[in-house]
Amino acid sequence: MAKTGSKRMPGTAEGAALARALHTRDSDAPVLFDDWAIHLLAVEDREKVLQGEPTETMAAMGDFDTSPIFAVNVGCLRYAEDEIDQCLASGSAQYLVLGAGLDTFALRRNDLQGKVAVYEVDHPDVQALKIERIRAAGRVPATMPVFVAVDFETTGLNDALGEVGFDKTALSVATWLNTTHYLSVEAIDVTLSDLATVLAPGSRLILNYAPDVALSEDQIEFVTRLLSLTDAAGEPLVSRFTPQAFEQLLQSRGFNVIEHADEAELTQRYFKDRNDGLYPGLPLRIIIAERSRDA
Ligand SMILES: C[S@@+](CC[C@H](N)C(=O)[O-])C[C@H]1O[C@@H](n2cnc3c(N)ncnc32)[C@H](O)[C@@H]1O
Repeated sequence: MAKTGSKRMPGTAEGAALARALHTRDSDAPVLFDDWAIHLLAVEDREKVLQGEPTETMAAMGDFDTSPIFAVNVGCLRYAEDEIDQCLASGSAQYLVLGAGLDTFALRRNDLQGKVAVYEVDHPDVQALKIERIRAAGRVPATMPVFVAVDFETTGLNDALGEVGFDKTALSVATWLNTTHYLSVEAIDVTLSDLATVLAPGSRLILNYAPDVALSEDQIEFVTRLLSLTDAAGEPLVSRFTPQAFEQLLQSRGFNVIEHADEAELTQRYFKDRNDGLYPGLPLRIIIAERSRDA
């Protein structure tokens, strides 16, 4: 069981769910259609989204739905889900979601009912709130994920997943999105080592991290505001990596990098023909890696 320390509230997870809820509400051609996200917001935020009023986060960020982080969020998730679909089509039957927060893949994918077991890993306080909100939503989830309470800073994945019946011999797909930057380098390293033991060779891992690259003046101004909000939510940005350093870390833990995409690649794939001006306005890096078959 994870050591919980002080109670953790899902501040950044709510921000991510809010982005998906607004994008689904407002876009004629959503990059990612998520009609469950709105149901996982706090009641007061849900009411505001339904009435077209700004939530506290939207007011604090100023034009949240056109802000540089907005498309990073939906773009990374779409990129990951395209890869997940390919993995499921090629034989993966387990999906492990690290730092799942208020992710809704299991809840909304009716087409995958009975075809994939979804395991969600996050802090126990965040999971408790999510379960409460799913129950209060008054709609039936496609699949209820298996919740695995882990604090990446203190708890190993290996035992926690063993206790819930995760099959370490089966081909799986895993994601770790919008989370590594809140973790120490040591916690990331230990979690990757654990992942190498729980994921069968050939399994795929899709993850992103905060790249240590130069920002424009506008981006610095935006990121400074964003960080003051995440600091206030008790989730400060802790780690950044150069692309080379992150690839080396993955390779040293038994993962081969298959694809390493940036914001230009995601723009090209998902945003170039949009007429609403939405595009990922911050540097990002997202990787598809494969658990080495030689291990
Ligand atoms: C920005 S949210 C991302 C949620 C989801 N992956 C998404 O993209 O919508 C970051 C998530 O990481 C989780 N997290 C941060 N630090 C953690 C830790 N030490 N142990 C477990 N989960 C953690 C938070 O609880 C939160 O749900």
